[in-house]
Amino acid sequence: MPDRYAVIGNPVTHSKSPWIHAQFARATGETIEYGRIEAPPEGFVHAVETFRAQGGRGLNVTLPFKGEAFRLCAGTSERAAAAQAVNTLVLDRGKPWGDNTDGVGLVRDLTVNLGRRLSGARILLMGAGGAAQGVLAPLAQAGAASILIANRTLPRATALAARVAGVSACGYEALAGQSFDLVINATSAGLSGELPQLPTGLFRAGALAYEMVYGRDTEFLAMARAAGVATSDGLGMLVEQAAESFLVWRGIRPETGAVLAALRAQ
Ligand code: ATR
Repeated sequence: MPDRYAVIGNPVTHSKSPWIHAQFARATGETIEYGRIEAPPEGFVHAVETFRAQGGRGLNVTLPFKGEAFRLCAGTSERAAAAQAVNTLVLDRGKPWGDNTDGVGLVRDLTVNLGRRLSGARILLMGAGGAAQGVLAPLAQAGAASILIANRTLPRATALAARVAGVSACGYEALAGQSFDLVINATSAGLSGELPQLPTGLFRAGALAYEMVYGRDTEFLAMARAAGVATSDGLGMLVEQAAESFLVWRGIRPETGAVLAALRAQ
């Protein structure tokens, strides 16, 4: 019997995680089975308990359940505690334990796959919801010169910035006259074809515009391209966070290059 894992969320129909983990399992020789669980909005805890009772060993948690997963855990890693969100549940070591691999996934994609230096960089993080929350502490630990969080609802940005030393917050209108080496879109605006109101001149020479959403050409990516700036979507982050989850569960870090290249080619 293979060890059972799954991604849980709503919706999960189009999740690439089962495919990614199947490639990792094949490459590392681990015998696992990785499925999909679509939990109803009020049914997350029940679905986790059912999976665990059936012998499930671990879950990747995706929208909208990362906060609920954090609250379900008896213990978490420091990075999950910093994010107050869990994307990786470990169910086979006593009480549920949680980790968050989103931030390290983003940092690895930026530094390893995209070859960016974060130390000394001036970073703009757009958005203050779950996606921004999940990556802020690992980004800050990567040695940026500064991190500014911009959000439509200013108090959310201010509250998030207050959690990590040296991070500041503002509204989008206050970005006029400022420029950055890396601009990360952690808003969900792209999912509804929208873009926060941004001033021109946001990008320094050689800057990168990073869209955390993957699989669609968002307004943010189009705007950055029109400004002549290098861009990336979040597909590399998806693969890297998956590899880190695989490491947490199996004790082996799979190679990500070939999997990412195959996904890009699909
Ligand atoms: P997620 O977990 O995906 O981050 P969320 O917690 O609902 O989802 O947060 C969504 C983020 O996208 C928030 O920062 C939100 O801004 P507000 O806090 O002001 O709501 C941001 N967002 C969504 N649509 C947006 C839009 N059209 N323009 C600007 N920001 C937007």
